[in-house]
Amino acid sequence: MREGQVIVTGGSRGIGAAIAADLARRGFAVVSLSRAGTSAAGRGLACDVTDEASVAAAIRTVADKGPIVGLVNNAGAHVGKPSAELSAAEFEETLRLNATAVLVGAREAYPHLRAAGGGLIVNIGSFFDKLGVPGSLAYCASKAAVGAITRCLAAEWARDGIRVIDVAPGYIETDLNRDFLTGDKIRAWLDKRVPVGRAGAAEEVARLVGALFAEDIGYLTGETIYLDGGQGMNH
Ligand SMILES: NC(=O)c1ccc[n+]([C@@H]2O[C@H](COP(=O)([O-])OP(=O)(O)OC[C@H]3O[C@@H](n4cnc5c(N)ncnc54)[C@H](OP(=O)(O)O)[C@@H]3O)[C@@H](O)[C@H]2O)c1
Repeated sequence: MREGQVIVTGGSRGIGAAIAADLARRGFAVVSLSRAGTSAAGRGLACDVTDEASVAAAIRTVADKGPIVGLVNNAGAHVGKPSAELSAAEFEETLRLNATAVLVGAREAYPHLRAAGGGLIVNIGSFFDKLGVPGSLAYCASKAAVGAITRCLAAEWARDGIRVIDVAPGYIETDLNRDFLTGDKIRAWLDKRVPVGRAGAAEEVARLVGALFAEDIGYLTGETIYLDGGQGMNH
């Protein structure tokens, strides 16, 4: 078992569950935060990341058990709607979960990571952060904010030994979207649009995140690493 605990938000299912399982496989003590409070691996704690008090309380509970050396801000959601019908409240709701919660989680973890002598924060962004996607204005804006938050925190906390990296996936197959992504029409579209010719697996995102923790590359910080089968850079 490695020293210290790694917190994964949204570790109850989907990409977060795969990340929790990969980190546990590599010997990290994992604690998942989700509203359900369950975890694919390690311990699960109930927490709503859109509620600052809930995040602060959960991180205090984790810290009471021992040092915290990492945080994966993974919890997030996509709600599609035509921009002409998008209310300010709906826009802000998406920003609150996908972007504000990244700041709040990082801010609450910061004193503990510093006390542990440094650590790693991985934020799960999206390759939509640099694309114009019809019906996805709030999601795209929130994921662009994740890239900006990552760069600012990386610059601010580097001297504390804390590195911050944005892992930005493309289309990733999870339990929730498997039926959609494996349909004939979308499969043909992915085959044409994605150089690698398919959707990604949650385990591929998890292996990248796990490797970033395990390899501990001290000179790598502030970057957005795209894991999208080449879709975002494809002509
Ligand atoms: N799937 C993709 O194709 C894809 C592509 C690019 C980026 N991403 C990003 O990857 C991340 C995970 O996506 P996913 O597809 O794995 O989603 P998912 O299957 O819907 O899982 C979302 C996770 O977040 C948790 N969660 C949601 N709202 C929460 C809240 N308010 N407080 C605490 N936990 C909350 C959920 O648990 P509870 O419901 O129990 O709270 C669940 O564990 C997101 O940031 C997403 O934007 C996904």
